[in-house]
Parts: sequence; structure tokens; C-alpha cells
Amino acid sequence: MHSRLSSLLAVSLTSACLIAGGPAPKAQSAPPQVAQTPPMGWNSWNYFAGKVTDKDIRDSADQIVSTGMKDAGYIYVNIDDTWEGQRDSSGILHTNSKFPDMKALADYVHSKGLKLGIYSSPGPKTCANFEGSLGHEEQDAKMYAEWGIDYLKYDLCSFIPAVMQKQAPHDKAAQMRLMIAAYDKMSKALKATGRPIVLSLCQYGWDSPWEWAPELGGNLWRTTGDIEAHWQSIYDILEQQKGLYSYAGPGHWNDPDMLEVGNGKLSLAENRTHFSMWAMLASPLLAGNDLPHMKPEIKAILTNKDVIAINQDPLGHQARYIYSVGQVEVWARDLKDGAKAIAIINIGSDRISTHPFHLDLKQLGLNGTQNAKELWTAKEIQLADNMEMEIDSHDVRLLRIESPK
Ligand code: GLA
Repeated sequence: MHSRLSSLLAVSLTSACLIAGGPAPKAQSAPPQVAQTPPMGWNSWNYFAGKVTDKDIRDSADQIVSTGMKDAGYIYVNIDDTWEGQRDSSGILHTNSKFPDMKALADYVHSKGLKLGIYSSPGPKTCANFEGSLGHEEQDAKMYAEWGIDYLKYDLCSFIPAVMQKQAPHDKAAQMRLMIAAYDKMSKALKATGRPIVLSLCQYGWDSPWEWAPELGGNLWRTTGDIEAHWQSIYDILEQQKGLYSYAGPGHWNDPDMLEVGNGKLSLAENRTHFSMWAMLASPLLAGNDLPHMKPEIKAILTNKDVIAINQDPLGHQARYIYSVGQVEVWARDLKDGAKAIAIINIGSDRISTHPFHLDLKQLGLNGTQNAKELWTAKEIQLADNMEMEIDSHDVRLLRIESPK
């Protein structure tokens, strides 16, 4: 069967092959070198947005090391939008005054044993109206590699009006081909540098990127619009992930957006549930909080090694939604060596209406009593069929069963 990408990008080639009676060749892609487990790190946007500076990035890198986040697996330190300055007469893009020397910054981040990420757009402008990469893709990719960049978030933004709507005003399918071609172009430009660079697609989940992004070398792709630091946003995004589990795997991940853990007015339970579910979803774990002022309880959430182990499980199987009772949802995920993770969340705001909740082990494919570990209390417990469970509003019970029966 032809992949969706090859058929979209090679319409003319496909028809030529059909005339010749042979199948269209499948696009060749080298085995992925990066993101074999979901990328972990930190990104500047959710807390600093347009105010981020070189100093914020250095301070965050320092904090990732001193808080133990690096030891827990957070490696990428990603600069989001607003680092860009102007292009000179040779087309070389310079940084703006907030980032005096990107190479020196990359050297600093690397000296801590961390990796540096950057941001651009396939359009003429980024979402915050800074310089994009349109017409300079190879030049920019080369420059990123020379600086020592390890990760690129490539954000559609102005490519929509400037190219898609302009070149194909009444043809949605043609607009989509233009968009895919733009991501393909940057992917090839990055590959041509010879430096392993994670490619993160940010086009808000339009036109099912999970169907075509892996094949063009995308390591992750946003599945929704922007996350915000409140429960409704987190829950809405979670609901949109329900059908996507089969698209995730080593080297290519659904991205329900960066973490808001520690931001806004999320309660402790909401922070815990957000982190638990992003771990279950095999989502990239990119913290987005103010690291120098991180509270101990937030650090404890972000560095819970058992929860991170679910996210980083080498099988790379994204959790599936299994069933609901009232306002309690049950999700599960298969792990290496036959283990299983189960998340039970209370999505309701009214505790009484959803209780008592009785766990149905059969719906999880389990037979009789199971030995499990509660990952937020680190206690061993026994799960019995039909057992009653207490879950506060917006809270979670996250369980790992090493030897399911
Ligand atoms: C878009 C993206 C965000 C962030 C901003 C930066 O909204 O979805 O994640 O990168 O642009 O301008």
C-alpha cells in the first residue's frame, strides 16, 4: 500500500508508474537517529513567551542540572520564538539583541551535558512576527548545524496566508501539499547538514500530520492548538488524543504540546494528572515552567522517576483510552517485558457524583487480583476486581503492574 505522503507528494510520479504498471516507490528514509523515546527537556514559550533572553536559557540549563531534572532525563533546552533578528545582504539570519551569540550559548548548554533547540517557521514570519525561513531553508539549517543546534521546532504560522492561501486560494488539497512540501524541504535541509537534529512539526494537527509526518522525517508533530495553563485546556487536549495511539513509536511521536506543569493556577492534582497523562501518551516531556522559582512539589512531579519510566518505555506504545464510568476515565498502556501501566482519572469537578468508582479488571484484559505499584505514593498495592477506588476531582491513580495476569 502506498503511504499517504508518497501519494500526496508524488502525484505525478504515481500516475507515471501506474501507466508503466508498477507500484509507486516508497520514500526511503534513513533509520531515525534521534527521539527513540519521547524527547525530554524544557522550552521557553509557556513561561517566558516573547521575553526570553540568552540569560534565561543559561539559567534554565543551570537549573535543569542543579534540580536533578537532567538526571531524570531532561536533556533538550529549547529556545522558542523571538530569538530572530534580521537577514543581511547574503541572506544570513542574525540573532536579535536578546541573544548576542548563539554559538556561545550552544557551547554553554552543551558544556552542561544538555542539548540546545531552536525555533523557526516555513513562512516568511514566525507566529510572533519575527523572521521565518521561507526561501532560506538550506542556509538556516546549515547555520543551525554550525551553531550546534540539536532540535528544531518548525511552526507553520505565516506560511498559511503567505504561501498556501496565496498560491492555492480555493484548493484545500493543494494547500496541504504545499504545507507538506515545506516540512519535507526543511527535513531534507536538516539531514543534509549531517548533524542529528530532532524535527518537531508545529502545525496544530491540521490535516492529520500523524499520517504523513513520520515519513518525511518528522520526529514529533503537534496534534492540537496551543495548550494553556488551566484544566479545561489540558482535558480538551487529552480528549483529542484518544484515537492516535497507533501513530506513535520510536522516532515519531504525537505531541499534545509542551507541559504546563507548575504554570498558571493548576492545582497539585491537576499538575499530577497532566504529567501522568502526558507520560502515558508517550508525549514529549518538555517542561515549560519558571525553573529558578520551581516549588518543591512541582519538582517532585517533574522528576518522578517511575512516571518518567512509563513515558520513556522503550516499546513506545502510547496509552489507549479503555473505558469510562460516569466521570472517571481509565487509560492503559503496554510496557516492555509484558508490564502494563494504568491511569484512572476523575475528570469531573464534583467528587460525589463519580464515586464510588469500581475498577473493572476484565475491561483491562486482566484476570483476578494483580500486584501493582502506585506511582505517586510509591506503595505496592493489590488490585482486586470490582474494588472501590477514591479519586479526587481532577486527580489520578497511576499504577504499574509488572507481571499482569
Ligand atoms: C505558536 C505555537 C506555540 C509557540 C508560539 C510562538 O502559537 O503553537 O507553541 O511556539 O507560536 O510564537
